[in-house]
Amino acid sequence: MKNNKKSSKRFVLVTGGTGYIGSHTVVALIAAGYNPIIVDNLSNSKVSVLKRIKKITGKLPLFYKMDLRNTMALNKIFQKHSIASVIHFAGFKAVGESVAEPLKYYENNIQSTISLCKVMNMHSVKKIIFSSSASVYGEASVVPIKENSLPVPASPYACTKLMIEQILIDIYLADPFWRIALLRYFNPVGAHESGLMGEDPQGIPNNLMPYISQVAVGRHKKVNIFGNDYPTDDGTGVRDYIHVMDLAEGHVAALKKIETATFKKPQIINLGTGKGYSVIEILRAFEKAAGKVIPYRITKRRPGDIAACYADIKLAKKLLGWKAKRNLADMCADAWHWQSQNPKGY
Ligand code: NAD
Ligand code: UD1
Repeated sequence: MKNNKKSSKRFVLVTGGTGYIGSHTVVALIAAGYNPIIVDNLSNSKVSVLKRIKKITGKLPLFYKMDLRNTMALNKIFQKHSIASVIHFAGFKAVGESVAEPLKYYENNIQSTISLCKVMNMHSVKKIIFSSSASVYGEASVVPIKENSLPVPASPYACTKLMIEQILIDIYLADPFWRIALLRYFNPVGAHESGLMGEDPQGIPNNLMPYISQVAVGRHKKVNIFGNDYPTDDGTGVRDYIHVMDLAEGHVAALKKIETATFKKPQIINLGTGKGYSVIEILRAFEKAAGKVIPYRITKRRPGDIAACYADIKLAKKLLGWKAKRNLADMCADAWHWQSQNPKGY
């Protein structure tokens, strides 16, 4: 579609770019010399993150408050700006909520993606990175988990991720000019090292690290450890935690690859560290970072939880030339820096 008013600047559209991972990726993109444009409906994020991005990078990214399902409005953005590629973070992500309200998840996550891809097609923008999740693997029988391990999604949320992967693969099968990276994240944690940006969950956090952080600042009394009778070294669940800035840099690496058309077909890639830590290990590392004792109690297992989940990271190294650099101490130190400076979030 032609539009003479288009600026010559080439942009990366970041859907969900005011959210947790999106905002950190926007910082990494700017640092790598890209021009991100954010589209977000602010259903799970705050506009004030933009000022923090500016404080860190010196640049205020272009922002449109918009629901991706509004195809006409999205089309206007593509008419106005010369968009070269898309990183698609937008979507709902709470596993428990998806079990209680499946339609909400199928409607938002799937329709947003279809609307986005329709507009991309109209404008011949055919490069996309999609935020998938390790949750598509479900209860994997072998760890570390390889990308070719059979996906057994255990929630409507995880099903939406697998369905979107399939939608993108089918788009490629119909038009092999598409360049697609399907990144399956393990457990993103931590914050930007400045302490200006971090995770700001609405309501009581479902995930371990934000819950521990909120206990450390006194927002909750103690951490509930969901079971200590798993077949792991200390009996608590083991996960692959990855620093959100490593994850952000993984997206920059993937973007470079899809830009240079290195991937001839859609690539599923795990983004994790390849190391598993137990709940107790996370708690102890956080205590060290915060310099305080974090009270906890053992409660019963959370339904649907598995014993251990961590990534095989060989493919990411091989295809992206990328590997996580930050360790558990960095993850906890940065999470604490953010939480202690912003006890109530943004
Ligand atoms: P987030 O909720 O912080 O960010 C998602 C953003 O998308 C929010 O800012 C929200 O306002 C926006 N959004 C939702 N629906 C939208 C719509 N219809 N139109 C426009 N904007 C919309 O979540 P996050 O942790 O940054 O996760 C980003 C992506 O990564 C999600 O797709 C999530 O499923 C995936 N992921 C996250 C994790 C994790 O643990 N955080 C793990 C694996 C995969
Ligand atoms: C959860 C999601 C998963 C998503 C992932 C990414 C579920 C069932 N799974 O995975 O789909 O991809 O987040 O962020 O929600 N724990 C406690 N106490 C708490 C919270 C957690 O003991 O208050 C334990 C859990 O039992 C688990 C570990 O900490 O062993 C990590 O939990 P969490 O942060 O919720 O992540 P996942 O369960 O791996």
